[in-house]
Amino acid sequence: MRKKILAGNWKMNHTGAAVQTVLTELVQTLPETKATLIIAPPFPYLAQAVSLTAHTPLHIAAQTMHWEEHGAFTGEVSPAMLVDIGVTHVLIGHSERREYNGETDRTVQQKVAAALQHGLTPIICCGETAQQRQAGRTDDLLGTQLRMALAKVRMADASRVIVAYEPIWAIGTGQTATVAQAQATCAFLRRQLAALYNSDIAATVPILYGGSMKADNAAALLAAADIDGGLIGGASLQAASFTAIIRAAD
Ligand code: G3H
Repeated sequence: MRKKILAGNWKMNHTGAAVQTVLTELVQTLPETKATLIIAPPFPYLAQAVSLTAHTPLHIAAQTMHWEEHGAFTGEVSPAMLVDIGVTHVLIGHSERREYNGETDRTVQQKVAAALQHGLTPIICCGETAQQRQAGRTDDLLGTQLRMALAKVRMADASRVIVAYEPIWAIGTGQTATVAQAQATCAFLRRQLAALYNSDIAATVPILYGGSMKADNAAALLAAADIDGGLIGGASLQAASFTAIIRAAD
């Protein structure tokens, strides 16, 4: 039985005072839950977030990282730097990084391998545009994204990854995928994991859904057989809306 995972991606939102307020409220109001809870604040606030959530069930994730150990990569952050400050998870290949920051299947592959090498849990994001879905290309595209992301991941490490399916047309639009759509695509991704590795690994790897998940649609999505959690943007920005999703997950 896979544990549920609820990960909040704050994207480029909140400055220090809000990070303090929201995380303090979140810690004080966290419901009892069996779910694994993760928050991904912007880079400047990662250390603050680690400190505010120490000795609580909350894990802190980065929203991206570089794959190299160190060097002349102005503006980049290495896996070792994240580990050094207590970050445990890292989003890799979010569609916004792919669209605005030149992230490709190849850089995703390098980042996933580097994250695992440093003991970080990669949350590998994949998803299709509305046009790609309408053209019937979703499975083909997601199959390639997943295969490329995992190409350097050996069988022994494969169960350490988390996959997040985020249909691009559902991100920040309020247009959530239907439970049937999300379940079918997450089940497809699980079959791909079985083909790439084996059925045990496919049964172990958590697959999250992301795209306008809110308290009022979370319970139905999270009840689907192959949806093991959520990657939540807008509704993770305030403690009350995130805790409402945590309650809906149980
Ligand atoms: O990483 C989170 C996703 O992009 C979903 O964002 O919940 O605001 O649609 P959203």
